Amino acid sequence: MALISCSVPIFLCVILVVLATQVPAQIKEYDISKYGAHADGKTDNSKVILNVWNIACQAKGRNLIYIPPGVFMTGALRLKGPCNGQMLFKIKGALRAPSDPQLGIDNWISFQWIDKLTVFGDGTFDGQGAYAWPYNNCKESPSCKLLPTTLRLDFVNNSRIHHVKFINSKNVHMSLLACHNVQIDHIRISAPGDSPNTDGIRIASSSGINIFASRIGTGDDCIAMLPGSRNVNITGVECGPGHGISVGSLGGTQDEEDVNGLLVQHCTFSGTLNGVRIKTKTSSYPGLASNITFQDLNMSTVYNPIIIDQQYCPFSSCAAGDSQVQISDAKFKNISGTSNSQLAINFLCSKSRPCERLELNNIDLDYHGRGGPVKARCINAKGISYGTQKPPSCF
Ligand SMILES: *[C@@H]1O[C@H](CO)[C@@H](O)[C@H](O)[C@H]1NC(C)=O
Ligand SMILES: *[C@@H]1O[C@H](CO)[C@@H](O)[C@H](O)[C@H]1NC(C)=O
Ligand SMILES: *[C@@H]1O[C@H](CO)[C@@H](O)[C@H](O)[C@H]1NC(C)=O
Ligand SMILES: *[C@@H]1O[C@H](CO)[C@@H](O)[C@H](O)[C@H]1NC(C)=O
Ligand SMILES: *[C@@H]1O[C@H](CO)[C@@H](O)[C@H](O)[C@H]1NC(C)=O
Repeated sequence: MALISCSVPIFLCVILVVLATQVPAQIKEYDISKYGAHADGKTDNSKVILNVWNIACQAKGRNLIYIPPGVFMTGALRLKGPCNGQMLFKIKGALRAPSDPQLGIDNWISFQWIDKLTVFGDGTFDGQGAYAWPYNNCKESPSCKLLPTTLRLDFVNNSRIHHVKFINSKNVHMSLLACHNVQIDHIRISAPGDSPNTDGIRIASSSGINIFASRIGTGDDCIAMLPGSRNVNITGVECGPGHGISVGSLGGTQDEEDVNGLLVQHCTFSGTLNGVRIKTKTSSYPGLASNITFQDLNMSTVYNPIIIDQQYCPFSSCAAGDSQVQISDAKFKNISGTSNSQLAINFLCSKSRPCERLELNNIDLDYHGRGGPVKARCINAKGISYGTQKPPSCF
């Protein structure tokens, strides 16, 4: 539009520009029910949806795949790019996973290698996890078969997931790997507080991830930031039930990518196991987590409101040793509310890689129970504190 030549009188030029900006970009719609999908909640629609995806992905321009109202059952879907145009995935009704546990299938629905994807529409991804959770035995059996993640984004850039609901994933609800510049907002994730490994959102090897105005209640972490999480902004998330918003666990693999530039702010935690947590495996590979800010958080009956755990051991026993992950420049600012344990602040850092440059600023936590007051513990942790310090700072 900016290229319109303005040798014509200026008012005409303005009209031309206004007209040009008002012509809506043509959107081609692909309604799955017009391609043979059945909204009976039973027919497996995966072939139809995959077919529609392939047609739309080849078309130029803006292409909208429409899941109309109704319950559409589908097996695993791998929706691959690169596409020739821009992809919109509008889910008005529900996509329902099979009740079969889908043992050994990594992902129920995955989007891969896509630039400019939008997923929206107020609809629901229903993982039907209740049928699968009894098969989750990975804590006891190392040879266990994994259950599928509900929605996985791999190598997806410049995209947005908004106004959709996720319920009862068999495993993680949403997982981002190698994604850049992705916005996730106004989403709701819910699964029972005792459902196993049902993380809300997991982020790894990704940057420029913005999550805001969302509600997450699960049986595991509301959000987990894994190795390679960089420049992540989480604002206005309500977490609970669940295990809180976590960094890690880190140190589990060799040559792990650093974690840098995380901001978690204006979030509330209700009845969660943890509030904000950084965890690294006890005996571990080297790694670095730095430049992390947790601020303006409200804790309501949270068991461990503020915790760094460098002795994290997900199994019944772990190799002895110190974590080799360095944690530095982590700030905790303006965090208030109630703790369900006396140890409201627990910095359990590594002996060989003590935490450095931690900061506690305006912390106001009360013990929700008898026998207070709240306490803070620092083990191998160095830092500064200022402003209100309740519990009294351990620096
Ligand atoms: C996404 O961005 C990364 C890093 O810039 C790039 O390597 C990758 O090819 C991009 N993926 C797509 C699908 O454009
Ligand atoms: C983080 O995201 C919020 C909500 O989108 C936004 O208002 C804020 O400016 C962002 N902060 C940074 C540092 O990017
Ligand atoms: C800290 O993170 C912010 C936000 O991602 C980033 O802009 C900044 O460059 C990082 N600073 C350092 C020293 O890494
Ligand atoms: C402190 O955090 C609370 C949320 O828990 C927020 O409402 C308040 O505005 C914050 N205070 C300051 C000074 O930023
Ligand atoms: C924190 O949350 C509790 C419970 O939802 C609420 O009563 C309280 O006003 C909130 N505090 C702040 C500072 O936002």
